[in-house]
Amino acid sequence: MNNKKIAVIPGDGIGNEVIPQAVRVLEASGAPLDLTYFDWGANRYLADGTTVPPGVFEMLGRDFDAILVGAFGDPRVPSNIHAKEILLGMRFKMDLYANVRPVRLLDASLCPLKGIEPKDVDFVVIRENTEGVYVDSGGIFKQGTADEVAIQEDINSRKGVERVVRYAFEYAVHNKKADGKPRNRVLMCDKSNAMTYAGSLWQRVFKAVGAEYPQIKSEHMYVDALCMQMVRDPRKFDVIVTNNMFGDIITDVAAALQGGLGMAASGNIHPGKTSMFEPVHGSAPPLAGKNVANPMGAILTSAMMLAHLGVSDASRKIETAVLEAVRQKKTTQDVSGSLGTKEVGDWIAKQIA
Ligand code: NAD
Ligand code: IPM
Ligand code: MN
Repeated sequence: MNNKKIAVIPGDGIGNEVIPQAVRVLEASGAPLDLTYFDWGANRYLADGTTVPPGVFEMLGRDFDAILVGAFGDPRVPSNIHAKEILLGMRFKMDLYANVRPVRLLDASLCPLKGIEPKDVDFVVIRENTEGVYVDSGGIFKQGTADEVAIQEDINSRKGVERVVRYAFEYAVHNKKADGKPRNRVLMCDKSNAMTYAGSLWQRVFKAVGAEYPQIKSEHMYVDALCMQMVRDPRKFDVIVTNNMFGDIITDVAAALQGGLGMAASGNIHPGKTSMFEPVHGSAPPLAGKNVANPMGAILTSAMMLAHLGVSDASRKIETAVLEAVRQKKTTQDVSGSLGTKEVGDWIAKQIA
């Protein structure tokens, strides 16, 4: 196999601590990779005004097989402009329309819910990643006056909704649960009782696409009820598909079921194009530079990237080693361990080697 070319963008804050651990684990896994680092983030922006240099998205798509990202966000850049241009830039301009966020509990001790075991939490959220309220459409009128009006538009295209809904059904067809059981339900989450125009489009498209997959059960929940069910009975979920904003919100709730944001992995995917992989968490400024951030979300993200690239053996090795680290409490404080970021990376890398 030719070496896979990976663009690595650690970004800001704890991104610079968790990505190096993910990289050492990738190296220990023996996966054939060539890594190229990019320094985009708050430091670069504050130094020379660069968020992303011109032509970058075309370059990433052309020259790399995948992108591994840490996180963006820095209190010195209150507008968050660099994060928007780099992170949302990749998602939107590279058209990475399916944000795949697996939700898997590795050990009962990590779950804040009573009586919940790993087999009870094994679902995936497929978040629309190129539209919705994230498109930056709208404006502010009469800013700074008593009559000020702010409009933030929610854009939903038939093409955009249809492709992500289809992705969810295809995901259900082609992926199994950790225990080998088939995935056979897709649940669409919306707020069509109040947001009727966008809701109508999502409802009609979901019904039409679902009809093409008679072996998969189509289900629906309003997003408010879904949040309640997620903490009441996560067994209810298999594959969830939803819009950009609801997907953002429910995956933080879902992260808590797995032990917190430090455990959650994600991929930003357009089948057949260069895709981008990042932990769900942000740059966590208060934790930065202290060697306390949990690197497992980033490490599991790197395993997800390898699986996407077809390097399945190395991917499985990484997942197994993380599972073992959790079972043996070789973890950071956020998941009741006593190790530092580097020490968790060390342990997992050694376990794999
Ligand atoms: P955050 O994810 O950085 O932190 C939320 C909470 O989770 C904090 O209590 C933090 O300590 C904890 N946490 C997060 N990651 C952890 C880890 N690996 N180990 C242990 N604990 C962890 O979200 P926030 O505080 O809302 O945002 C901070 C900055 O990150 C903001 O600038 C925000 O915009 C940005 N952000 C970026 C991304 C991204 O780049 N993908 C995602 C979310 C937030
Ligand atoms: C995420 C983050 C981003 C989002 C922010 C940083 C723009 O919260 O990846 O979940 O809202 O998508
Ligand atoms: Mn988020």
